[in-house]
Amino acid sequence: MYSPERLQYLEKDFHVRDDDVYIVSYPKSGTTWMMEILSLICKNGDPTWSKSIPIWLRSPWYESIEGQSQIKDVVSPRVLTSHLPFHIFAKSYFTSKAKIIYIIRNPKDIVVSLFYFNKMICIYKDPQSFPELLEDFLQGNLLYNSWFDHVKGWMQMKDSINFFYITYEELHTDIRNSVIRICKFLGKDLDDSQIDLVVKHSSFNAMKENKMSNYTMINQDFMDQNKGSFIRKGITGDWKNHFTIAQNDYFDEVYKEKMKDLNVNFFWEQS
Ligand code: A3P
Repeated sequence: MYSPERLQYLEKDFHVRDDDVYIVSYPKSGTTWMMEILSLICKNGDPTWSKSIPIWLRSPWYESIEGQSQIKDVVSPRVLTSHLPFHIFAKSYFTSKAKIIYIIRNPKDIVVSLFYFNKMICIYKDPQSFPELLEDFLQGNLLYNSWFDHVKGWMQMKDSINFFYITYEELHTDIRNSVIRICKFLGKDLDDSQIDLVVKHSSFNAMKENKMSNYTMINQDFMDQNKGSFIRKGITGDWKNHFTIAQNDYFDEVYKEKMKDLNVNFFWEQS
């Protein structure tokens, strides 16, 4: 899916356009949800596009080899999607007017989501047990490395006018207001009924039903639908059904240490 050459090209030579929008996230943070929200915002709430074109063609993966060929066909203004960490993102972004929407999720729920996702993904012949995955997550020994470094890296941009961050939990708590905030950031002026349409067609159930967005069309050799669903549970706090008390204490200890220099309080830190 990836190559060192492609990553080097993206970092040094990829031309970011001023009207580009990038959805950036650590895996399992609600990336696909944000992709669907943006597809709908781009079309003023009309779901025709999101119900007829696969999500990976509407906002292609910026760093994957497959994404490379898909990006060529995307007309501006482009919405592209990336899991890349801050330090290897396209240098040309930082001198452009392009916008980034960074979506963040409670890392405990990310571990749980990843645990089920890994079972479906055929690149892992032997998915890890939950304790093994948890340890690798805390040590940053995963694809896309450390969640802690990812968040700390990107949050350096938090005061930039071209950078907007939002949590999965905020989308959950108040999707309508979240859509309004996203529209404001993008400079998109949707009326109330158009916002209602974005909310309706990006709901968990709507996305689960939409074969253009639920990844059921993806090659079975890559994602085995018999082993789970990509649009899986879509809730906050599922970690409470998976972590032991000891695992939770250990996680909190590592989290506190690794995040101590970040001057942002995410609301899951209080729960
Ligand atoms: P769960 O596995 O906890 O259900 P990503 O797109 O970054 O890989 O994130 C996938 C996670 O987002 C999955 O979480 C998936 O179910 C959830 N998700 C996708 N669409 C959603 C929606 N419309 N509402 C809520 N959660 C959604």
